[in-house]
Amino acid sequence: MILQVQNVSKRFGGLVALDSVSLEVQEGEILGVIGPNGAGKTTLFNVINGVYAPQEGLILFRGENITGLPPFKVARRGIARTHQIVRPLGELSVKENVTVGACFGRENLSLKAAARVADEVLAFVGLAAKTDLLAGKLNVAEKKRLELARALAMRPALLLLDEVLAGLNPNEVSEMISSIRRIRDQGVSIIMIEHLMHAVMKLSDRVFVLDHGAQIAEGTPEVVSSHPKVVEAYLGDPQAALRLLEGSA
Ligand SMILES: Nc1ncnc2c1ncn2[C@@H]1O[C@H](COP(=O)(O)OP(=O)(O)O)[C@@H](O)[C@H]1O
Ligand SMILES: [Mg+2]
Repeated sequence: MILQVQNVSKRFGGLVALDSVSLEVQEGEILGVIGPNGAGKTTLFNVINGVYAPQEGLILFRGENITGLPPFKVARRGIARTHQIVRPLGELSVKENVTVGACFGRENLSLKAAARVADEVLAFVGLAAKTDLLAGKLNVAEKKRLELARALAMRPALLLLDEVLAGLNPNEVSEMISSIRRIRDQGVSIIMIEHLMHAVMKLSDRVFVLDHGAQIAEGTPEVVSSHPKVVEAYLGDPQAALRLLEGSA
């Protein structure tokens, strides 16, 4: 077991963003997290990686309590994330952005070693030809890959992906899907928040469904996509319902 989230609640004033959420991730597993907009998916990542401390509950990483640790300490333990809204340091080069990630990762690297790691992960995500460009000059798909490279440079054991497929064209989506598979094949456990249903269903070993901060279903992609509560949660959002149906087809 790499991660256990136990009865975690996070409130913003009167708003309950996470309502006693519990989940587990096995070593080497891809757990998909789905749910309508505002369900609490990004907040879940924010409490796992220490952006927010939950008001209640525990987060255990490989059995150790990491609840409430600040993000840089969580990163040192081996958890890296990507952000739904990608904001690279636009005035730095692509390589410099990734080198910064490497410096804050699991290993305490010298700048020289961090730059080597940066080259390696940039090649892995297909940005080798862009290393010297200013990050601000990249297009959307390239910025997503840069965000992934920055997280990978931290050498995580657990990678949290927040909608890395959003805004990509079908070609870019399949490239990203194959990158995610290769990352998992290297032994990294993954939690992926994703709206693109066919991708979540294809990639995930298990899927966890949040609605209004609470778990409404959990199980294999097949079980989850036909779960009555899941279908119901998506009915308020016809586009999402359609994607859900496509995913289960
Ligand atoms: N920092 C914050 N302050 C106040 N409310 C927040 C904050 N972050 C998230 N929320 C609220 O918590 C709920 C869940 O948000 P979020 O986790 O971003 O949902 P999702 O990622 O599933 O779309 C939403 O109602 C959102 O407005
Ligand atoms: Mg979100």
